[in-house]
Amino acid sequence: MKSRPFVFINAAMSADGKISTYERRQTRISGQRDLERVDQLRASADGIMVGIGTVLADNPSLTVKSGEKNPIRIVVDSMARTPVDAEVISRKGHAIIAVSKSAPCERVNALREKADIIVAGDERVSLPELLSELKKKGINRLMVEGGATLNWSLISEGLVDEIYVYIGNMIIGGKDAPTLVEGVGFVDPMKLKLLSVERMDEGVLVKWCVF
Ligand SMILES: NC(=O)c1ccc[n+]([C@@H]2O[C@H](COP(=O)([O-])OP(=O)(O)OC[C@H]3O[C@@H](n4cnc5c(N)ncnc54)[C@H](OP(=O)(O)O)[C@@H]3O)[C@@H](O)[C@H]2O)c1
Repeated sequence: MKSRPFVFINAAMSADGKISTYERRQTRISGQRDLERVDQLRASADGIMVGIGTVLADNPSLTVKSGEKNPIRIVVDSMARTPVDAEVISRKGHAIIAVSKSAPCERVNALREKADIIVAGDERVSLPELLSELKKKGINRLMVEGGATLNWSLISEGLVDEIYVYIGNMIIGGKDAPTLVEGVGFVDPMKLKLLSVERMDEGVLVKWCVF
């Protein structure tokens, strides 16, 4: 048995592969049916994880609208930069902030009032260590909702099982607009296995499995 949860990334991107505008501002890419699908997917997970970049850009609540129980919300935040009034730690339910050993103590203590803290890694959050801790806490299905930098780290470190992408009917453009996966990139592209393709609203939902 794996020492980490089953990990799947869910994201929405434009026809040109962008996940937000060049201002790194959230823009609505999905249609209504896809939003409902994402809500159900959240409800099926034990945990939902995002990077601190997404918290600072979008301030998502990551709550489930349709269900009674919210999965545990996890922020990957090496230096404990999560604002104490961020939605992700203010809404009902359990939240975890994963920090590194370099996070300032006063910031960590301020966050401790609102969320559990996991320390993993020296300067940056160690994702293998974090996932192993999450598994020990009973998180068997982990949904990752971005952003581009966290997606890259997880994928390049071999920590992702499946990737679900809703491709919306729009062009966002802009060389500085984030794409689904950033980081330094592969020299030898990583291959995926196509699981399914489904027309949804005015876009397409594509599911991939990572080898
Ligand atoms: N369309 C969509 O589906 C969707 C979904 C989510 C986000 N977005 C968009 O994505 C953008 C945010 O993406 P982003 O790339 O800026 O931020 P991100 O991936 O959400 O967060 C990245 C940050 O996480 C922290 N981190 C800590 N340990 C890490 C590790 N081991 N690997 C990677 N990151 C680690 C780093 O900051 P520290 O070192 O300070 O901790 C890093 O800068 C926003 O524009 C948002 O709107 C779109």
